[in-house]
Amino acid sequence: MDWQARLQEYLAPRTAQVNAALERYLSESPPLPRVLPDAMRYAALTPGKRLRPILCIAAAETLGGTAEQVMPTACALELIHAFSLVHDDLPAMDNDRLRRGQPTVWVKYGEAMAILAGDALFAKAFELLAEQARLSPPERVVQVIELVAQASGVQGMCGGQVEDILCEGQTVSAEQLRFIHTHKTGALIRASVLAGALLMGADKPTRDALDAYSRALGLAFQIADDLLDETESTEQMGKPAGSDRAHGKATYPALFGIEAARAHAQHAMQEAIDALQPFDTRADPLRWLATFAVERRW
Ligand code: IPE
Ligand code: IPE
Ligand code: MG
Ligand code: MG
Ligand code: MG
Repeated sequence: MDWQARLQEYLAPRTAQVNAALERYLSESPPLPRVLPDAMRYAALTPGKRLRPILCIAAAETLGGTAEQVMPTACALELIHAFSLVHDDLPAMDNDRLRRGQPTVWVKYGEAMAILAGDALFAKAFELLAEQARLSPPERVVQVIELVAQASGVQGMCGGQVEDILCEGQTVSAEQLRFIHTHKTGALIRASVLAGALLMGADKPTRDALDAYSRALGLAFQIADDLLDETESTEQMGKPAGSDRAHGKATYPALFGIEAARAHAQHAMQEAIDALQPFDTRADPLRWLATFAVERRW
């Protein structure tokens, strides 16, 4: 069996478990407020790759844990990701109308509801991170909360999004571009892997190896996202093809060209796989996910 078939076999049950848990965590539907619970469910439950929760689970499994043991944290990471997509698509940001093959949240529910759905998903994520304390030692949970907060904020995703916006239509350096990618996307991917490891009580050398893996993976993943935006169809991706070019975004293909961007992605993928050298076959899903990050078509 090739890596793709093995990855599919690995992903199917775990994606189903994550989806069921997300459904459960977002099942509250009180009479008031109106609209918001629906908008949150629409944003979070539409079919996506669920990469961040899967990474959290795969890191925990590499260290002998199970999906159940980290599920609140895994789902929290997906809710933060979903929130980041809702805000990323807003007219004030990327102004995109299609996400996961459906109208974006602001198109369906209006801008005010999209802003609030993003805010509420972010808050819900921290509720779930705290809920992890029912399953894990509280001191590990506190470490994860700090990690995820840092990865989301000014030193992480929000910081990367700011530079992404400020660099629209500008000439950027390779360093600026790397900053954008490692922050807007890389930070949450890194936190996803490290959260799984921290919850299992990983020692320093283990955390360092997974740190190196996840940094390289996050960069590879966003370079691949840039490449898909240039080379794939809207139907294939479920989001608007050519959006980056239309907005003058700073991307690897824009700065280096398609071929060199592919080489950058391959290089980062190899760096990620090499960082897993200390681990046994339990890290194989992390290895396949690194390949998937650059070979994927959505
Ligand atoms: C898209 O993320 C936004 C980026 C950070 C590149 P994904 O490609 O993981 O989107 P979904 O969750 O599968 O829709
Ligand atoms: C998104 O980068 C990063 C975050 C949502 C934090 P993009 O703007 O390239 O993501 P897509 O292409 O819209 O999914
Ligand atoms: Mg964007
Ligand atoms: Mg976007
Ligand atoms: Mg993109």
